Amino acid sequence: MLSVTGVSKTFPGVRALSSVDFTARTGEVHALIGENGAGKSTLIKVLTGVYRPDEGQVTYDGSPVRFATPLEAQHAGISTIYQEVNLVPLMTVARNLLLGREPRNRLGLIDFRRMHRTADEALRGLGIRVDVRRPLRELGVGAQQMVALARAVSVDARVVVMDEPTSSLEPREVRTLFEVIRTLRERGIAVIYVSHRLDELYEICDTVTVLRDGKVVHTGRIADLDRLRLVSLMLGREIGVVRDEGLTKFTGSHDTAVEPVLQAEELTVRHLLDGVSVAVRPGEVVGLGGLLGSGRTETAKAIAGALRTDSGRVVVAGTTVRTGSTPAAIRAGISLLPEDRKAEGVLPGLSVRENIALAALPGLSRFGLVDEARIDRIVDTFMTRLRIKAAGPHQKVGELSGGNQQKVLLARWLAMHPKVLLLDEPTRGIDVGAKAEVQKLIDELADDGLGVLLISSDTEELIEGSDRVVVLKDGAVVAELTGDAVTEDRLMRAIATAPSASTAAGGPDD
Ligand SMILES: Nc1ncnc2c1ncn2[C@@H]1O[C@H](COP(=O)(O)OP(=O)(O)OP(=O)(O)O)[C@@H](O)[C@H]1O
Ligand SMILES: [Mg+2]
Repeated sequence: MLSVTGVSKTFPGVRALSSVDFTARTGEVHALIGENGAGKSTLIKVLTGVYRPDEGQVTYDGSPVRFATPLEAQHAGISTIYQEVNLVPLMTVARNLLLGREPRNRLGLIDFRRMHRTADEALRGLGIRVDVRRPLRELGVGAQQMVALARAVSVDARVVVMDEPTSSLEPREVRTLFEVIRTLRERGIAVIYVSHRLDELYEICDTVTVLRDGKVVHTGRIADLDRLRLVSLMLGREIGVVRDEGLTKFTGSHDTAVEPVLQAEELTVRHLLDGVSVAVRPGEVVGLGGLLGSGRTETAKAIAGALRTDSGRVVVAGTTVRTGSTPAAIRAGISLLPEDRKAEGVLPGLSVRENIALAALPGLSRFGLVDEARIDRIVDTFMTRLRIKAAGPHQKVGELSGGNQQKVLLARWLAMHPKVLLLDEPTRGIDVGAKAEVQKLIDELADDGLGVLLISSDTEELIEGSDRVVVLKDGAVVAELTGDAVTEDRLMRAIATAPSASTAAGGPDD
């Protein structure tokens, strides 16, 4: 249906694709995998007319094509959901869904009633309930992604391309997405699927193509390839090495006698948080469990001073921190890696070096002079350890692949040597190799007494990565799992059966 032969694409300083052959067939879900910066998004952009390849040919439905713009590809029947939601935040959900094909009346004006009805039906058909009259930006990242999905499948597509569609989805939304994908496959549509979550690939994909440093290193049926082999192909390392490295886990001290490095007490924010208390000891990783809207992100923000609290206290290493002030929190040693890296995180126009050094800068200056050599060393260390793939420290962050942008953000907060690190979806979009590296780095920092609060919608990551999990529901703590009780089953039960905040009489019951 859609293929490329001998495609190459070079950016200043990087060969993003080199002689790539790739074919997506009708009625097949084709996984495209590879490390951050391997060239996945670039290949997709070549397929969908965003980039023109330097060499090679794109073939669609049997004939050579040369899409001049993504719109042209879309009109031809190739629908794409990009890694970053690229809809118009200020417009309503309905308008976003039908952008460019709004129903019009005889005068050529937009027929809003019909537009709202059509949009509502399209979303309902996917089991998504949102008010289509609301501006898109009022929705969470996950819901926005579902709107992008609804948009992509509501056009008459013959190829649907998804670049990390699930990275910001809740488990329930992922199920919906998978049902949609199965329907697409039955309708004879070719689906191209990019993801770093291996479970998902095995569940939903038929074929797999592995990219490494811009080259195809394997293509074939996914069922014929076990995980270990897949990861070793992706990272270009021996199977034995991959097996030995495993997925490192966070290791923390479980010594309850140690004073907590972070104590958040009775944090209350009207309508959002209802007396949330959580303590983290040095070297400990405490997970925050709960559904979307349960107050996980709000708890992190309240601790980091990014959300004004009505009452409650935050204590770091025995000292009370003024709440509602980000600078005060940073001075106290609290670092927050925010969830929405596009809105609150990377500065795309600045270099990798500037982005990493940004937050640590005040600590690296003396008498107003910046210690450039030290910055170079720090930047160099993090670029190496996190395997940040860039042409060099002076490349603009906006030019990096999605996962590498995420790594730069992580580096920024790790470089501050915080006492308390709040991680909201830290490994979203990060490949398995770098994920292990991130966890190793955090382990090292933990040895110096760092405490970590971890939020992740990747249940596996939350379970494996946490020493303890505090479960939130409707803005209140409803359960706490420790030690052997930290299992997926117990977590799911705590989320599902815990009484909601308004009815909770006693404490946790699990
Ligand atoms: N516009 C650009 N300018 C310069 N370099 C670019 C640009 N777009 C991509 N690159 C580089 O091309 C390489 C491949 O990037 P690409 O976005 O295709 O990776 P990816 O496989 O999608 O990674 P990820 O898993 O992180 O999303 C990277 O080294 C990236 O820095
Ligand atoms: Mg990408």
